[in-house]
Amino acid sequence: MADTTTPERISTGIPGLDEMLRGGYFKGTANVVSGKSGTGKTIFGAQFLHEGTKKGEKTMCIITSEEAKSIVKEMRTSFGWDFDELVEKGLLTFVDITDPSLRLQKSVEIAPSELIKSFKKLVESKIDELHPDRIFIDSVEALYLAIESRYKLRTLIDDVFSVFRRHNVTSVIAVGSMYGLDDMVEYGADSVVKLGRVTAGNNLQRSIYILKIRGSGSINEVRVLNITDNGMSVLAQSPYLESA
Ligand SMILES: Nc1ncnc2c1ncn2[C@@H]1O[C@H](COP(=O)(O)OP(=O)(O)OP(=O)(O)O)[C@@H](O)[C@H]1O
Ligand SMILES: [Mg+2]
Repeated sequence: MADTTTPERISTGIPGLDEMLRGGYFKGTANVVSGKSGTGKTIFGAQFLHEGTKKGEKTMCIITSEEAKSIVKEMRTSFGWDFDELVEKGLLTFVDITDPSLRLQKSVEIAPSELIKSFKKLVESKIDELHPDRIFIDSVEALYLAIESRYKLRTLIDDVFSVFRRHNVTSVIAVGSMYGLDDMVEYGADSVVKLGRVTAGNNLQRSIYILKIRGSGSINEVRVLNITDNGMSVLAQSPYLESA
């Protein structure tokens, strides 16, 4: 029988997804969201943080590349979410590792091993300082480009996941499918949500499914993922099931 004293669940903030996960993420776990470019990873993570701030939780967004910096502008134009205001209110903190003042940017002076150590240290010190409830990393590819080793990236990611678990922070980590990084990073994660696109006739439809969630059952269906001006949501019925 399933243990009824299972840990607290955390809402993903994405309507329909908590049901698929049987109540949301487990608190203090590392959760990967992966998919090709444009499948909705950044929106997913931003909505996860936004949900936390609505409840007064503290949230942190770790930015790893130049492109990821436009998240504030994109969330405003896409959904009218004011992340600048959340920062002013102390509910959201950005940690931008490309910021030269943190000395973590890709640079000839920094050896990959140094970057790995500094990234982990930086994340841990920011968690100690701010005690966030939720963290979103957007995304892992830039770390790989800086480290240039799959093995080292895997070790780094696993270490960072342990930091999150130790501090009881619930995290979402975006991973693109470039270089097969998604496959590799998914091994160490407590849960994996896959975003994609399927063609239905001449239409392109967004799709979502749960690849795994450790310690829980889940709805094992590919469902439709919708993005509208109100954000992202999952349709309750799967159109992909064969009729009995
Ligand atoms: N208000 C909106 N209504 C409908 N779709 C939207 C809206 N805002 C954004 N989108 C869609 O969401 C897509 C972007 O999603 P997102 O940036 O989260 O993808 P991503 O997986 O992070 O991509 P990348 O790998 O390039 O970082 C846009 O390309 C657009 O199609
Ligand atoms: Mg993105």
